[in-house]
Order: sequence, then structure tokens, then C-alpha cells
Amino acid sequence: MEIVRDIPKLKETVKKVRAEGKSIGLVPTMGYLHEGHLSLLQAARSENDFLVMSIFVNPIQFGAGEDYEEYPRDLERDRELSLSDGCDLIFYPEVRDMYPEGYSTFVEVEGLTETLCGASRPGHFRGVTTVVLKLFNLVSPHRAYFGQKDAQQALVLKKMVEDLNVDVDLIIKPTVREPDCLAMSSRNKYLTPEQRKEAPLIYRGLEEARKLFREGERDAEQLKLKVKEIISGSEEALIDYVEIVETRGLQPVKEVRQECLLAAAVKFGSTRLIDNVMLEV
Ligand code: PAJ
Repeated sequence: MEIVRDIPKLKETVKKVRAEGKSIGLVPTMGYLHEGHLSLLQAARSENDFLVMSIFVNPIQFGAGEDYEEYPRDLERDRELSLSDGCDLIFYPEVRDMYPEGYSTFVEVEGLTETLCGASRPGHFRGVTTVVLKLFNLVSPHRAYFGQKDAQQALVLKKMVEDLNVDVDLIIKPTVREPDCLAMSSRNKYLTPEQRKEAPLIYRGLEEARKLFREGERDAEQLKLKVKEIISGSEEALIDYVEIVETRGLQPVKEVRQECLLAAAVKFGSTRLIDNVMLEV
């Protein structure tokens, strides 16, 4: 397995791989890998001849006052973890090569990016779509793998690929959870022991609301109340949003009469965690 920092070297390598008629799978990450990332690597490994993982803490998707500087970074740990999944190449670019001085082009998906995390993190998705399109152009993957944990990100990227006619298949894999059902996240590492104990309340709230939904409750307000009530069982939790949106345009609904996403973002101290479940009619 190779670690490549240099953009021309990366392009040369993938050009050779493509010329040999091999398929390329890409797993974009910001590193500090956990089982969620590894599940994407495993899926990509089984479906492609050549597997590229990118590790890049992308500064333009972090807002002022967010955790760009503190975001955990450990290349050696990531290298070892990804070895067992048979990664062929880790692309680990430098910020100054991805965004050289004078860089001025950005990709913006309208509509889907104004609700949920888009409302609380202005500019976040513009940073995500920009970096992911750059990665697609650099790696020219046949398939790229993303997690349902970041459901809005996955939908926004699908829309970008469709709207801009990008020739790549996006594959979305289920959320991987800790034994107590907390969604795995690189940010879980920031939680204090007390916060870590209480963080599974997010998923418990979502699941309890889903149970009510399955029992026939269709009123979005009632379902959201259930989630909020359960999360409020933690003194440390500060709810950013609990929202129910339809899965096409991500617009809030009053009644759940079509497939919807029930999503929550909750802060524990300065750590912001997100999770979601589908409400299938
Ligand atoms: P990062 O948070 O490192 O996540 C990389 C990929 O892993 C994303 O597709 C994310 O949805 C997926 N993932 C994270 N936690 C998961 C879990 N518990 N189960 C399954 N998949 C999970 O998302 C990003 O990085 C960045 O925004 C990126 C797409 C790399 C662009 O910078």
C-alpha cells in the first residue's frame, strides 16, 4: 500500500490503473478511522480492483469557530487500520496543494443544503461538494462510497453527481454503531465519560419515535417531541435540531405520508453529534 501526497503522482498512478482496465473504488474520509469508515473500505474492496482512500481534513467545510484545528489526526493509526482492508493507495494531500493561493472555484447544490445541518452550518456543504468533486476529478473512480450516518451529505452528493453528469456510481452504506447503538464518529473521542454514557440517548430517541410511527403516529410534531423528550434525559445534551424531512428535497413535513428522514443534531459540550433513521411508509 502506498501513501501518496503529491497530486501529479496520484494522477499518474490512477491513469496506469485505468489503462490496465481495472475498476477503481474511492472512499473519501477525513481520517481518524473507525468501524464506519472500515465498512466502506470493505464494501469498496469487494467491488473494485483498485482501492483508494483519501484522508483530508478539508478546511473549507468547517465554519469559523468549528473544530478544524482540533479535528483528530493520526496517519500512522489510519494506515495500520486500513491495511487489513487491503487499501491499495492512501491519498493524503496537503491543504496548499488542494487549495493553492488564488483558489476560487466552489460547487454549490441549492435547495437540499438549506435545511438540517445546512441551516446550522452555513457553507458546510459547499465545502463538502467542492472537495468531493475535486477528489472525483483526481482519482476518477468508477464507484465512491459514503455512509448513511451523514444522510444529508449523501443526498447532496448524489444530486451533484446527477446535475453535473459526473461519471461515478455513489454507493451508500448503513450506519455502523457502537454496542450501545451510538453512531460511530471520529468526534466521539472528544466526549467526556459522562457525555459518552449519555450520547446513546440520541439514537434511543430516534428509535422510540420510529416505534411510535410504526404504531401509526403520523404527526411530525408528536414524533419530534418524543425524540426531544428522550434526549432531554441528559443534562449535558443541547439539541441543535430534531427534524423530519422528506427524502427527495429534504423539506420539513407536518405529516409523515411519504418516506422521510428523522434526523437529529445534538451538542454535548462543544462536540456536535448527528444521527438519523428512516421513516418508511
Ligand atoms: P468523515 O466524517 O471522515 O466520513 C467519511 C465517510 O464515512 C462518510 O461517507 C461518512 O458518512 C462515513 N461514516 C462516518 N461515520 C459512519 C458510521 N458510523 N457508519 C457508516 N459510515 C460512516 O464525511 C466526511 O468525512 C467528509 O465530509 C468527506 C465526505 C470526506 C468530505 O470531506
